[in-house]
Amino acid sequence: MLDIHFGDNLPILRSMPDEAFDLISVDPPFNTGKVQARTRIKTIRDERGGDRVGYQGKRYRTIKLGTQSFEDAFDDFVAFLQPRLAEAHRLLKPNGSFFLHIDYREVHYVKVLLDQIFGRASFLNEIIWAYDYGGRSRTRWSAKHDNILWYAKDPDHYTFNYEEIDRIPYMAPGLVGPDKAARGKTPTDVWWHTIVSPNGKEKTGYPTQKPLGIIERIVKVHSRRGDRLLDFFAGSGTLGDAGLRLGREVVLIDNNEEAMRVMARRLGFAQPRFHGFTPEAKDMPEPTLLDSVGC
Ligand SMILES: C[S@@+](CC[C@H](N)C(=O)[O-])C[C@H]1O[C@@H](n2cnc3c(N)ncnc32)[C@H](O)[C@@H]1O
Repeated sequence: MLDIHFGDNLPILRSMPDEAFDLISVDPPFNTGKVQARTRIKTIRDERGGDRVGYQGKRYRTIKLGTQSFEDAFDDFVAFLQPRLAEAHRLLKPNGSFFLHIDYREVHYVKVLLDQIFGRASFLNEIIWAYDYGGRSRTRWSAKHDNILWYAKDPDHYTFNYEEIDRIPYMAPGLVGPDKAARGKTPTDVWWHTIVSPNGKEKTGYPTQKPLGIIERIVKVHSRRGDRLLDFFAGSGTLGDAGLRLGREVVLIDNNEEAMRVMARRLGFAQPRFHGFTPEAKDMPEPTLLDSVGC
């Protein structure tokens, strides 16, 4: 089951009943002060008028297909988040978990805010998602990580499916023996994972789209089949994609029409119920049996 709501998340969250969700995972705008935009392009061979040079000196002309964007600037970011995070706490089931994805500029303020709402004892991990993509600064250490804060509503009772954790290779497999080396090890609170590849299949074109691999790990380990999941800053619907494929029920909210269209294209296979938005037929792919996509 997938519900997608269009609109400001605060009144929508306030209309939902207490303790409705097992896992809430959000990735709010990071307050970068910019408009987050991604322009989709295609290139075609053009030896005379091409503005790009590719492999073996061949020239290509760039054609803009469209730009997707949303505002990422708030006068008072913490005041914007506070009532929404308080709703998240109310909406979590007693053994539910809350994940918040943020960057190094805001994480300290948001940690203090979440400690006030959940209580300091409920803070379980700060996960560092480390990647290695893009240019390097010559004037400071290049920032190549995001922060993910994990709070459990009840720090003594929460879902943590240890057996579901994926294994990663040892850095020095020669030091641990062949059996351990073949099995690999569980990740720590530093998760190395590439960004969504600009040319890969996973890319929706939505700015700030998060990698499915990161979100799938959260869903697998912190919820069970049939659980209810919520993302109220849904963007391209990455939590929906991960949750549906893993047999969870998902509710998504966003106030950007472009996000609605991207989610319709991405998640149409699951016949979502839209609230406050009617996608055009061209944006809705044929529904697929969930079984055929791995549920
Ligand atoms: C950082 S993006 C989320 C990206 C998402 N994690 C993904 O993988 O595609 C933040 C999203 O929050 C949405 N947003 C910002 N303010 C909102 C509000 N008040 N209510 C609902 N959505 C909001 C923006 O439209 C944007 O899509």
